[in-house]
Amino acid sequence: MTVNLHVNVDHVATLRQARGTAYPDPVEAAVICEHAGADGITVHLREDRRHIQDRDVELLRQLVKSLLNLEMAATDEMVAIAERVRPHIVTLVPEKREERTTEGGLDVVGQLERLRSIKARLDAVDVQLSLFIDPDDAQVRAAVGLGAHAIELHTGDYCEAESDDAIEAELGRLATAAKLAVSLSEDVTVAAGHGLNLRNVSDLVASVPEIDELNIGHALIADAVFLGLERAVERYKDAIEAGEAERE
Ligand code: PXP
Repeated sequence: MTVNLHVNVDHVATLRQARGTAYPDPVEAAVICEHAGADGITVHLREDRRHIQDRDVELLRQLVKSLLNLEMAATDEMVAIAERVRPHIVTLVPEKREERTTEGGLDVVGQLERLRSIKARLDAVDVQLSLFIDPDDAQVRAAVGLGAHAIELHTGDYCEAESDDAIEAELGRLATAAKLAVSLSEDVTVAAGHGLNLRNVSDLVASVPEIDELNIGHALIADAVFLGLERAVERYKDAIEAGEAERE
């Protein structure tokens, strides 16, 4: 099984918004990422439009040849955009205006009815649903039980762990959650993301063989400042491949 790399190009837009210019364009970045081997493009259209803009999502839908994953909050405004633009996948994430980035997973258990109705609206326009959750037993059961096409496990705690023991413990939590998901459904895709970089991605891939897909943004775009975007994507693909080679 090969692990797909979806590149999150939000922070190309962050640089653009910092000056209110037309460049650098996240749409152009997506094309370069695809040429370099990215298997999909991810963007987070935040309610405050701090980086990605509506225009970006619409252009990406037309230009992305691989797969467009739209991350968004579970609000009516966002669901209406997804119904109109029809990305390949919508990933629902919790969103707080004051946060710097997505801080935790979605509480699926606490809003089953709301998520069920969003899933029905997305099903009606053939858009797949992914739920971004913490590697927690109850959340995994609820997300798979809802019939989500994918779950995306939040890797933030793994990426922030410092001691070897803490890192091992976090990898264990992620592995347990991923195993549970595939034991509940053969069809569910297991994705992971948040805080991944060239130093921690191989161990994650090696330790959690159920992972099908990774969403990587901030560190990859930061590496691209020095390496160039094409080279950065290639380096992440190589790191993922190194992790796959270590799987038993
Ligand atoms: N996956 C999800 C659901 C996210 O919200 C984010 C951040 O937007 C990412 C992955 C990417 O995280 P990072 O930018 O830290 O690589």
